[in-house]
Amino acid sequence: MNKIQSHSTIRRRNFLKYLAAVGITAAGGYMFFEYAPWLNYDEQAKQIRRPFEKNLTKSAQMQEIVRYATLAANGHNTQPWKFVIKQNAIEIYPDYARRLSVVDPGDRELWISLGCALENLLIAARSAGYTPEVTYPYAVDFIRIRLTADTMQRSPLLDAIPLRQNTRSEYTSQIIKRNDFDQIHAPPLEPGVVVHFVTNSAGLKTVLEYVIQGNLSQYADKAFVDELIYWLRFNKKEALASLDGLFTRCSGNPEVPRWLGRMFVAGMKPQQWADADTKKLRSSHGAVVLASESDDKTTWVRTGQVYERIALKMTSLNIKSAFINQPVEVTKLRSQFQSAIGLGAYLPQLLMRFGYANTMPRSLRRPIKQVLI
Ligand SMILES: Cc1cc2nc3c(=O)[nH]c(=O)nc-3n(C[C@H](O)[C@H](O)[C@H](O)COP(=O)(O)O)c2cc1C
Repeated sequence: MNKIQSHSTIRRRNFLKYLAAVGITAAGGYMFFEYAPWLNYDEQAKQIRRPFEKNLTKSAQMQEIVRYATLAANGHNTQPWKFVIKQNAIEIYPDYARRLSVVDPGDRELWISLGCALENLLIAARSAGYTPEVTYPYAVDFIRIRLTADTMQRSPLLDAIPLRQNTRSEYTSQIIKRNDFDQIHAPPLEPGVVVHFVTNSAGLKTVLEYVIQGNLSQYADKAFVDELIYWLRFNKKEALASLDGLFTRCSGNPEVPRWLGRMFVAGMKPQQWADADTKKLRSSHGAVVLASESDDKTTWVRTGQVYERIALKMTSLNIKSAFINQPVEVTKLRSQFQSAIGLGAYLPQLLMRFGYANTMPRSLRRPIKQVLI
């Protein structure tokens, strides 16, 4: 090799090293800002779930009750609610700007979500020393809870409110203890709402068939997948910026940049979603169907209340639960599922599985100042 050649080889090598250094620094910087290690997700999730405070001034107490209402289950964690605090009442309004027009075109699940929030609100209000009286949304588009000062009635479910979660992982397959099952299988109901526990293998096989069909139908629909991606929060930076939506870690998935997450979710085959849910259902002790006589706003709210009651009771016994609503959300499957599972004239509204499992990372909520009108 002559002098000129060796010089140009050295220059090329140096240039490549320089390029590699720039590439590594840029990638490192990108990852650093993408994952924002200085942001503490778990602290934020814990803060919104801090213990319930009592004996506050009236206005602070009302806000505290609203905070506990917002810890309720809700579709895609859209938090589709707004609250108005009045002199002796709290009102819950739907926030239609947060509706899920693809998976829930009739706002059925939106009103169920408001029912979940209502149930938390009632438990918190009683614990703070108020007797609540609910006006359901028969003729209006909101729920009104009149609050009369009374003695404090501590509900054992109050402590379960910040602990409840929709646990989407595979469960341990352990059988629920007899004594615990006795405490959950006949929850207090609401007029027009029934619950149907499925724990035998024939019944669970039917549930699984419909969950699979539901998955195949939903994930073949681009609009459904697009709506899901819109509400997915692929890393904590995104989750903490919006304080809503479905954070991937809560479902046991890693944090990734949005472009990668979107590519991954859009590229998943419907069968892969169905296979994942098959494993999850098979690892659960059983399923619960919530069904109702009619399909109107008040019934949806009451269904949400009964769901929240069941989920809180399960939480207090360290039993985990998660929704598998696909057979109810896919219109063409809903009535088939209704007869296959033996519900007679009752319309299926919600489907959930339950069992033992570890706790997953907790979802976020917006602070109450963002949900108060
Ligand atoms: C009406 C309704 C429908 C839901 N549907 C599903 C579902 O089909 N699949 C699912 O994994 N979670 C479902 N969820 C659970 C929400 O995604 C969950 O409540 C929300 O992300 C907040 O998380 P958390 O319940 O752990 O607090 C549903 C919740 C409600 C109230």
